Amino acid sequence: MASAGMKRLIVVSNRLPYVLKRKNEGWELSAGSGGLVTALLPVLRNRGGMWIGWPGVTEHVPQLNQILHEAATDAGYSLKPVILSPDEYDRYYNGYSNETVWPLFHDLPSHCNFNPEYWPAYVKVNRRFAESIAAEARPDDFVWIHDYQLLDVAHHMREDKNCPDLAFFLHIPFPPPDIFLDLPERQAVLDSLLAYDLVGFQTLRDRRNFIQCVRTMVRGARVKADGHLHSIQTEGREMHVGTFPIGIDARDFATRAASPEVESEYRRILAHFGDRQLVLGIDRLDYTKGIPHRLRAFGNFLERFPEARGRITFVQVVVPSREGIPRYDALKQEIDQLVGQINGRYTQMGWVPVHYMFRSLAPHELLAFYRAAQIALVTPLKDGMNLVCKEFCACSLDEESVLILSQFAGASAQLGRAALVVNPYDVEQTADAIFNAYRMSAGERRYRMRRLRKNIRSQDVFWWVDSFMRAAIDKELRDFPVLEEYIPEQHERR
Ligand code: UDP
Ligand code: G6P
Repeated sequence: MASAGMKRLIVVSNRLPYVLKRKNEGWELSAGSGGLVTALLPVLRNRGGMWIGWPGVTEHVPQLNQILHEAATDAGYSLKPVILSPDEYDRYYNGYSNETVWPLFHDLPSHCNFNPEYWPAYVKVNRRFAESIAAEARPDDFVWIHDYQLLDVAHHMREDKNCPDLAFFLHIPFPPPDIFLDLPERQAVLDSLLAYDLVGFQTLRDRRNFIQCVRTMVRGARVKADGHLHSIQTEGREMHVGTFPIGIDARDFATRAASPEVESEYRRILAHFGDRQLVLGIDRLDYTKGIPHRLRAFGNFLERFPEARGRITFVQVVVPSREGIPRYDALKQEIDQLVGQINGRYTQMGWVPVHYMFRSLAPHELLAFYRAAQIALVTPLKDGMNLVCKEFCACSLDEESVLILSQFAGASAQLGRAALVVNPYDVEQTADAIFNAYRMSAGERRYRMRRLRKNIRSQDVFWWVDSFMRAAIDKELRDFPVLEEYIPEQHERR
């Protein structure tokens, strides 16, 4: 139990780490997907705390608090739901978050839907999150808010004089001024980000873009280097910004990859694909991931290097995501068509070039594919960090696999020297990289993979949390006690 006065860790994100799904007459919880959940789960598992977020459904679930309470008891930290109505789901989640901010911040303004009905819903839901935090947080708690769905929370919390310190981490890129300026609500969004005490970005590029936007749009803002942070002073207020590349729990991935369950799945995969090299792509269905470009690059590789036909198989896993948003539905069709074209053209008796799965994988399957693949193709057009490439390296237990990485993934700033770095728009360059990886000597593979794994182990998710908390409140993860158990009845809001 946390004694009075001790700091508690309160994580806030749009989603809880679990998604509620209908099962027969009732409901079940399943693990959420996406980098944010993967990164933060080990932190709360390690230290306890509270996670505030949306449980993934808009229907009324009578047993919601009981279901979350049971999950929280198992998990060792509390879960507090924030409920969205179907209309809020359309306008706040699909609309402003995923049809406006997501494409804009990934440098794709042509994919944005600047519908004026979206912003009021976004503000309303952000205010509800702010109220939910205020109902829980004591002034000395550490409240850590995450990602682009909640840019406006600090603005509402500042209305309360007892507001605790507020820190924010942006998991996705921050765009340069010429793109950010397209946003109709750019001033409100920037002002709200400036209302946090600390804002963390994945890369130097993102932090630089943010500071340039502040300099362009906020008259009289003073920006100063302050250790490895930057301080920004605006009328009567000072806040800080910094760069904190997110990591994974690398040791845990490596341990789990060696478990008997993964081992037997790994053997099953090897037996199925024979002695062919496996090239692996794993992504949520998202146009930022560059899946069609990657498929074209693989087709180009097969065309230009016929000696590799029959000897290499591309396994592409696409995890369903954001269904109902037109761009995502169109992308699914494009991928289906491209896979059909490549397989139609190159399949031979006993060999299908692209093995395509449109579903999420069970954890042991995912790890077994990471272990079994000799080459990972991680080629997003733009990505805040990309955790798949780090997980792949952590699970490369024989250290003989090759990472092909987009220069536009945040991870390339850390891993670029030991990976084969490509411009994902350059189909021929990516095809050449597949060929280089395919015939790379075991010695060079090992040399590169050891460097990658060393980096991923030393800058892991605990390093990330510690460096962020040190910057925010001069504390580390071990300074946080396990929170008392969450009692749903006492906290029920709706
Ligand atoms: N992932 C998952 N289920 C799957 C496949 C992948 O939960 O079936 C996870 C994967 O382990 C990784 C995350 O989804 O942690 C994807 O994170 P990434 O940063 O690569 O991209 P994001 O989806 O966050 O844009
Ligand atoms: C990325 C975002 C997260 C988001 C995740 C899954 O990782 O940075 O904020 O949760 O994708 O997307 P979804 O829309 O399903 O939450």
